Amino acid sequence: MAELFKNYIAGKWVAAKSNKTFENRNPANRDDLIGLFPASTAEDADAAVHAAKTTFPAWRGVPAPKRGEILYRVGELLRKYKEDIARDMTREMGKVLKETRGDVQEGIDTAFYVAGEGRRLFGETSPAELPDKFAMSVRTPIGVCTLITPWNFPMAIPTWKMFPALLCGNTVVLKPAEDTPATASRLIEILNEAGVPRGVVNLVHGRGEEVGAALVRHPEVQLVSFTGSAAVGREIAAVCGQNLKRVSLELGGKNGQIVMEDADLELAVEGALWGAFGTTGQRCTATSRLIVHRDVAKKVTEALVARAGQLKIGDGLDETVDMGPLINQPARDKVLNYITIGKQEGARLLIGGGSHETGACAKGYFFQPTIFDQVKSQMRIAQEEIFGPVLSIVEIGSFEEAIRVLNDSRYGLSSSIYTRDVGRAFRAIRDVEAGITYINGPTIGAEVHLPFGGVKDTGNGHREAGTTVYDIFTEWKSVYIDYSGKLQKAQIDNAD
Ligand code: UN1
Repeated sequence: MAELFKNYIAGKWVAAKSNKTFENRNPANRDDLIGLFPASTAEDADAAVHAAKTTFPAWRGVPAPKRGEILYRVGELLRKYKEDIARDMTREMGKVLKETRGDVQEGIDTAFYVAGEGRRLFGETSPAELPDKFAMSVRTPIGVCTLITPWNFPMAIPTWKMFPALLCGNTVVLKPAEDTPATASRLIEILNEAGVPRGVVNLVHGRGEEVGAALVRHPEVQLVSFTGSAAVGREIAAVCGQNLKRVSLELGGKNGQIVMEDADLELAVEGALWGAFGTTGQRCTATSRLIVHRDVAKKVTEALVARAGQLKIGDGLDETVDMGPLINQPARDKVLNYITIGKQEGARLLIGGGSHETGACAKGYFFQPTIFDQVKSQMRIAQEEIFGPVLSIVEIGSFEEAIRVLNDSRYGLSSSIYTRDVGRAFRAIRDVEAGITYINGPTIGAEVHLPFGGVKDTGNGHREAGTTVYDIFTEWKSVYIDYSGKLQKAQIDNAD
């Protein structure tokens, strides 16, 4: 019998009101059923929002340092259970153990970082323009926050959103991706063990179109934070726009790594390999374009193809494996479709390009590391987010052209340049249109205490992580205290 998982609403584990469930299977082995999860509907969403709303006044009344202490305990528990969570996560979504450990570590880092903020969460004091008057601004919580999270970082991304939301005094409804509901359930168990009061965090499983949509539309939800595709992000933003809800979006990427002719080429190849094929290319920050100077293109390409050919594909629980499967059948179909598109567009397939289904991999959604060269910037494989282990190599002839090609994208999340020329590095920092720029490092690997997010279609102007995340999850209130004992009109009302 498959394990039956539940929603978590108002401090209780409950089935969906419809009693319907959906299956969650291991992407490395379709025969491995992880469990059955509630197929929630608008009714369940409503119950979860109600619980979060009811708890909000009490939770916002808990002093921020105390809320921070609870989150610190969450961090300690995540550290205690790290290995078990990582193993279950690999079984649930496929990425290799080293990376699922990293995913949990990102949650731990966020917990400790955010916990300390409980004693800061600073506002500002400022001079007032009138005598005997004091002015300051303080942060206040917003209310019920809906967090809709993807499967590729099933612990890191929910924690990035949830811990700051909670620290700021908000209550939460989490709707995790259908492909990673077990990791989300585990997170809730840990929150309970750490002492997060009932009702403060509520969990509803199910389909985005159904329960996700109901949460976004719900009149008592004040804020929606979403990480996922640009297409869904647009829909969410439209609904939130109509209803004047705050909405923070972290969407696609088509991240490029530039390799100039003066670069340390070995380092650049290693970076590209990790950036393109780490997490099977399924990171928003993955390197999907390699923009290489023509003088070194042959050398870089040959080295990259040789290294990609050595990557071991398989079940991520095997410590010797480099690359796990794609997340599911639609993901594999999508990647396969882009291989066809790339060939039709005239790019040259150098390695990979197909499913990897031999031997122990027969029952999973494995895909070969794939590299195209002779790619032109306007081709679809250089423009659209593929979200798989596919790297497109575009040759350029100058630094200016490299920047032009890098910026020739509707997205702007991460970026990278390999060069030994400090002037070029600084010009890239200035001119690259992206939320993140790495110098001599791959496009993946952001740290939790710096702002995370992007420009153009990657988002809507917010930044998670860093100190900027508190601007997502708080309202500013300006406070004026007049101790003159008389009506003092503001300067504009006193003007001659
Ligand atoms: C994502 O793919 O959505 O920078 C997040 C990185 C990770 C986070 C990726 N720290 O690669």
